[in-house]
Amino acid sequence: MGYGDLIIRSYNAQKDRVRVEDLERRCEVGPAERGFLIADTLGDPICRIKNSPVYTMLVAELGNQLVGVIQGSIKLVTLHKPPKNLARVGYILGLRVVPLYRRRGIGLRLVIELEEWFIANGVDYAYMATEKDNEASFKLFVDKLSYVEFRKPAILVNPVSRRILRISSNYEFEKLKIEEAESLYRKFMSSMEFFPNDIGNILRNKLSLGTWVAYPRGESWGATFPSSWAMLSVWNSGELFKLRLGNAPSSCLMYTQSSQLMETLFPCFKLPAIPEFWQPFGFYFVYGVYREGPLSGKLVRTLCRLVHNMAAKSKDCKVIVTEVGGSDTSRNHIPHWKFLSCPEDLWCIKAMKNEERSSLIEMMKTPPTRTLFVDPREV
Ligand SMILES: CC(C)(COP(=O)(O)OP(=O)(O)OC[C@H]1O[C@@H](n2cnc3c(N)ncnc32)[C@H](O)[C@@H]1OP(=O)(O)O)[C@@H](O)C(=O)NCCC(=O)NCCS
Repeated sequence: MGYGDLIIRSYNAQKDRVRVEDLERRCEVGPAERGFLIADTLGDPICRIKNSPVYTMLVAELGNQLVGVIQGSIKLVTLHKPPKNLARVGYILGLRVVPLYRRRGIGLRLVIELEEWFIANGVDYAYMATEKDNEASFKLFVDKLSYVEFRKPAILVNPVSRRILRISSNYEFEKLKIEEAESLYRKFMSSMEFFPNDIGNILRNKLSLGTWVAYPRGESWGATFPSSWAMLSVWNSGELFKLRLGNAPSSCLMYTQSSQLMETLFPCFKLPAIPEFWQPFGFYFVYGVYREGPLSGKLVRTLCRLVHNMAAKSKDCKVIVTEVGGSDTSRNHIPHWKFLSCPEDLWCIKAMKNEERSSLIEMMKTPPTRTLFVDPREV
């Protein structure tokens, strides 16, 4: 197909909202061999990016048919790029082409148009995340558009049971004021890869439920730091969009049903019931997990229990999602369910300016830092 009859233009909510929702439904993405969670944007296809500082959504139109869509957002983050270690990055997400029109160059054209928007907005690097087994997406970005594999964070998903979990009395918790949380982030995490320069906007956003620290009982949180401590923040993603299970083998269905039956019949066993995932449900996203000291792994685990209990009391939060750097050992302390988690989410990156190419080669040579900041606005 020539490009002549294809129009790429900005999304127009009035004109496109229903058609984009329909397109999303026809393009469900996920691995065939395990369960995967699908975003349900509840009638607002742009909701996933609208908390980002700068964003756009493009649609591809052929005749009067909407055949493709892509979204992008821009922000300033930490990337190890002397002298300032700051870079303007453009995030690509939500690329979809309807099955009937695939392999005709529409996906490629959407990405190229988005890259042009990035360049016009001063972006240094574009990046995207994909399932490592998504061959079409990998070949499009890596083989065709020269993106390079960059980082492989893990997406950890934990179901929320209706039961309140016991929290050890050996630890104390504190919910931080926003200013306190921001200064803690800047002190300890600003050198993390992809740390957003506008962290204050995230913490002040109405979707941010707060930042908590945990430390051993008997010590205090104040002028000096406890011997061990951990922190994390929680974002109520379910206020923006819902999730539902896109694929589930019958073993999962049986497990869910039997766990619920066991909980009803034998509440004294305190077995966690696995929630129903077939209807759209809300979720919390945990970000900014940081820890120091010998007991900090236990403290992360305890903070996760605290978040679980908050979620258990909420109306529709059925899973807690966290994404951490591939070599971040905190993942060993974050409870998650393997069936729904993704051990290697693949991030690919490309320099948008000639002068950034050499910096990217240098960045690729350095081993990934243990910690990677995953922005809750990009989930
Ligand atoms: C990925 C996707 C957007 C590609 O759209 P598309 O319009 O078919 O892609 P294009 O026709 O522009 O393909 C460009 C190049 O990508 C690669 N590619 C695309 N689809 C491919 C496939 N199924 N298998 C192997 N390579 C593929 C090829 O290199 C292709 O070039 P070629 O046709 O000259 O060989 C589309 O398959 C899709 O919507 N998939 C489901 C959603 C998804 O996975 N999105 C990506 C999430 S990051």
